[in-house]
Amino acid sequence: MQTQQQQQPQPHAVPTDAARCVDGVLRARRSVRAYRPEPLPLATVMDILQAAAAAPSNSNTQPWRVHALAGSPLKALGDDLVAASRRGGFPAPAHFPDPLPDELCAHQADFAERYYRTLGIDREDAPARRAQTERNYHFFGAPVGLIFSIDARLQRHSWLDLGLYIQSVMIAAKARGIDTCPQVSFAPFHAVIAPHLQMAPGDITVCGMSMGHGDAEAQVNRMEMPRWHVQAFVRHAGF
Ligand SMILES: Cc1cc2nc3c(=O)[nH]c(=O)nc-3n(C[C@H](O)[C@H](O)[C@H](O)COP(=O)(O)O)c2cc1C
Repeated sequence: MQTQQQQQPQPHAVPTDAARCVDGVLRARRSVRAYRPEPLPLATVMDILQAAAAAPSNSNTQPWRVHALAGSPLKALGDDLVAASRRGGFPAPAHFPDPLPDELCAHQADFAERYYRTLGIDREDAPARRAQTERNYHFFGAPVGLIFSIDARLQRHSWLDLGLYIQSVMIAAKARGIDTCPQVSFAPFHAVIAPHLQMAPGDITVCGMSMGHGDAEAQVNRMEMPRWHVQAFVRHAGF
């Protein structure tokens, strides 16, 4: 069993302005898809990944595994993924059931419309759309790329734990002025990714994440994605 860092019990009180701070970071986070080239120090990345490890998990199992890349290993992985996607023959991404429930389908269509409009890509322009999809594999030019994996024997509630960890990474990063983009686009390419990362046999690639300082000038980073109002998705009783 791995040694876990033992922490002294801490009082659970939070500073009174914590809500303002946390809400501000939650709202400021965006999926950032164009980055400035300056590198992130390993210590910063590790600090973020450690802070996010405060995420809860079922029976404290902490099923997350993270592979962090920069420099030439990052580029080598991106090059191989672009080549693999052009070669084809990988399972079609099955991130969603087919058909997607109507209401979700409308959100997906709205996302695609905003995304390609922001990028100035015609919906019918398949080569331009493919080129944009390929930018995923080089982590949109970010100086750091993360791949998240999990023991493939684990079930959906452990994937839920991993999701909580991933959101915590994005929030811890944003609180330090660092941008991210979560990316499921990597999932179909486990066979290409695993050898690059010497991933444990039995692990499966869940998703990736770009990390770095976003390019504030890039049009693609100005996209605002709307959210339902709380009244639309909450039922309450007994208050
Ligand atoms: C699990 C997950 C997978 C995602 N995969 C991708 C992806 O492969 N490529 C991409 O550009 N964005 C991806 N996104 C980003 C979503 O499109 C984005 O979160 C959503 O449109 C809301 O926008 P926001 O993150 O800017 O608030 C993903 C988000 C999540 C949570």
